[in-house]
Amino acid sequence: MATPTAKPFHSKMDQGMAMKDEEKLYKRDGTFYSTIMTPPENLDAAKDMEAREDDVFVVAYPKCGFNWMVGIVKKIMSASAGITAPDRPPIIEFYSPEVQQVVAQSPSRRFLGTHFHPDNIPVSFNTKKTKMLVVFRNPKDTVVSYYHFMNNNPVLPKAESWDKFFSDFMSGDVAWGSYFDHALAWEKRMDDPGVLVLTYEELKENLPEGIKKVADFFGFPLTEEQLTTIAKETTFSSMQEKSKNSLGNFGKVFFRKGEVGDWKNHFSEAQSKQMDEEFQKKLAGTKLGAQLKYDIYCK
Ligand code: A3P
Repeated sequence: MATPTAKPFHSKMDQGMAMKDEEKLYKRDGTFYSTIMTPPENLDAAKDMEAREDDVFVVAYPKCGFNWMVGIVKKIMSASAGITAPDRPPIIEFYSPEVQQVVAQSPSRRFLGTHFHPDNIPVSFNTKKTKMLVVFRNPKDTVVSYYHFMNNNPVLPKAESWDKFFSDFMSGDVAWGSYFDHALAWEKRMDDPGVLVLTYEELKENLPEGIKKVADFFGFPLTEEQLTTIAKETTFSSMQEKSKNSLGNFGKVFFRKGEVGDWKNHFSEAQSKQMDEEFQKKLAGTKLGAQLKYDIYCK
């Protein structure tokens, strides 16, 4: 989920602390959603929203590095076009019907995002051919990051145990659904020129190059100097440090470890084998599969 800003964020957290774990997720059309962050009226309002061709739209399965990309895109828009995106998280399904009205009247270019499965992205984003930047991460680190997020964030139910959460993740019984369903749906759109997939690992490998790809994709020219500054300000340590100001101790919930390979500290041999088999079955031989460099980052 996206990094909320301090005030509304803390009120959502308070709501979470007052709610029973079993009430924190609900199912719609077979997929779990967060009762507090994405109540049914938000999903309804999102469905009808009017996208614009020039919206800056970022999509990611939860815990794939969405907030990292939000930090990057905000800095690109500010440096290149002097656009200050609002403080609220850009996630469209977090918007109440009232906030949706504000968004509908906001000037272009708007910065928006979602964790929705591509089939649930509001239709107008497709009819308007809004460009979509999709962030993915290797599934082993994604499930580890998701596990910690469940346990450190009162909005979502605590994971009973690592083993239970791993098994829920593999069966898609987690908020926003199955990682592999999302990946398979994006795989079908890899050749669409309006879609750019970037991975968490690519950003780790070469952050300036990743930032440049994002800026070029959305048509925000940057000078070398701007690029260097943005890269310096969006490293894990810079962002974690900065989050202390807005989120206090919760900063560490959104900016936890920021590494590739933490899965090795969590997975059993059997879990590793199960994930390898699932990857092999679903994504081996695909473009997205190749881009995820599974053999390098997950073996
Ligand atoms: P970890 O839990 O492995 O640390 P999302 O924003 O989609 O919820 O993803 C969260 C993950 O992105 C967390 O992973 C978080 O630490 C990581 N992250 C956030 N900012 C980052 C940065 N600047 N560099 C590297 N990782 C970052």
